[in-house]
Amino acid sequence: MSGFISGIRASGNGLLVRISIIAAIGGLLFGFDTGVISGALLYIKKDLKAGDTAQEWIVSVLLLGAILGALISGYLADKISRKWTKVISGCVYVVGALGCAFAINVPMLIGFRFVLGLAVGTASFVAPLYISEVSPPRIRGGLVSFNQLAVTTGILLSYIVNFLFKDVPGDWRWMLGVALIPGAALAIGMLTVPHTPRWLMSEGREKEARDVLKRLRGSDPEADIDGEIDAIKKADEEEKSTKVKDLLKANIRPLLWVGLGLAIFQQFVGVNTVIYYAPTILSDTGLTKSSSITQTVFVGITNVVFTIVAVMLLDRIGRRKLLLIGTVGLTVALIILGIYFTSPTLQHNASYLALGALLLYIAAFAVGLGPVFWLMISEIFPTGVRSKAMSVSSMANWAANFLVAGTFLSLGHLITRQGTFFLYGAIGVLAILFFAFKVPETKGKSLEDIQRQLTSADAGGKSKG
Ligand code: BGC
Repeated sequence: MSGFISGIRASGNGLLVRISIIAAIGGLLFGFDTGVISGALLYIKKDLKAGDTAQEWIVSVLLLGAILGALISGYLADKISRKWTKVISGCVYVVGALGCAFAINVPMLIGFRFVLGLAVGTASFVAPLYISEVSPPRIRGGLVSFNQLAVTTGILLSYIVNFLFKDVPGDWRWMLGVALIPGAALAIGMLTVPHTPRWLMSEGREKEARDVLKRLRGSDPEADIDGEIDAIKKADEEEKSTKVKDLLKANIRPLLWVGLGLAIFQQFVGVNTVIYYAPTILSDTGLTKSSSITQTVFVGITNVVFTIVAVMLLDRIGRRKLLLIGTVGLTVALIILGIYFTSPTLQHNASYLALGALLLYIAAFAVGLGPVFWLMISEIFPTGVRSKAMSVSSMANWAANFLVAGTFLSLGHLITRQGTFFLYGAIGVLAILFFAFKVPETKGKSLEDIQRQLTSADAGGKSKG
């Protein structure tokens, strides 16, 4: 984090700071809108008479929209620019938020949650893309993790909004409606920022690209405008000559497996059942609706605090160690939750144990899998296939998210609540094994070294460092 801030200072002008704040609204959007439903659901289910299946759809249709949003925006970002794609996503966000707030029945709410999902999927993919294309290489890593910090801040904000509106007439409508504020801020804010130099170059607008780069680098003594323009040209040529099917080439495939493995495990350990259903889980422990929502705020704070810890430690301790420690921690928490829901005695006498386990779970996720997935997919792929591979990995992440969120309540009925947590715990064990054997350390290494190491036969064995 300190490197990130000093790097921005070193760039010597306010433009990068403004751009970072605006890009962080993209992360906020992602977090806010995925988090806000947790509290709102408790009121919606009564008000709109939504059963389990309807509730699952209200939560998870947003994710279907996000899968599509990530796909379309990959195309739009090239076609009409990153900047205009983000402006549009801000506008779509406003429409979605208003539509949800004024929904008169479940189908209308589901429809507008899908619209919101389009904007969320777009923001999740184009925000890091935009940031990485405007930032100087030496602070790019900090900026990537900063985006995850914005995601967690967005989730926390959504919990606070839920808390503030829980006793206000119109409760859930306000909770969903205030989301138009970050949406509008994103659309308006993006109108004031430049196109990325990379996109301008791909359109053959070299002079404008140079001008933007000069403004972005300000008085940075390390700036090398000609060098950056040359590097962009080279990467652009490489990327233009790669097709999606190149991702399956023998030298890229192992990298794709790591990206997909991280994407899928990040969701299959059940993180978003905690993010989306924390108040539901807590109210199942016997707490009132109101205190469940209050306690959920602690989950949000813990997520932000431990993401800050991760941002500070990732470049010191390394990604691999944090990933492993974090995943062990969250697996232990899942087992505790499983035991808690198995034992009626614990449920009657120790509801704090459920909250404690939820907090342990989210802290462990926040120091490991949370930031490390997004960071690693920006590190492990060679330039020529990076954007395509990142897009495939992000879509896999949203698809896995959809599967887990869409089945949590039904799984509870099928194999009991405790069975569900034990199942996620077992997936946690598999994740630990996959990370231990397949995921390399990327801290302090050049992208070329990482790639060479990953494409060698026994990547996991040689990766400790
Ligand atoms: C994940 C989201 C999750 C969030 C929680 C992100 O890294 O991709 O699905 O809701 O972390 O902090």
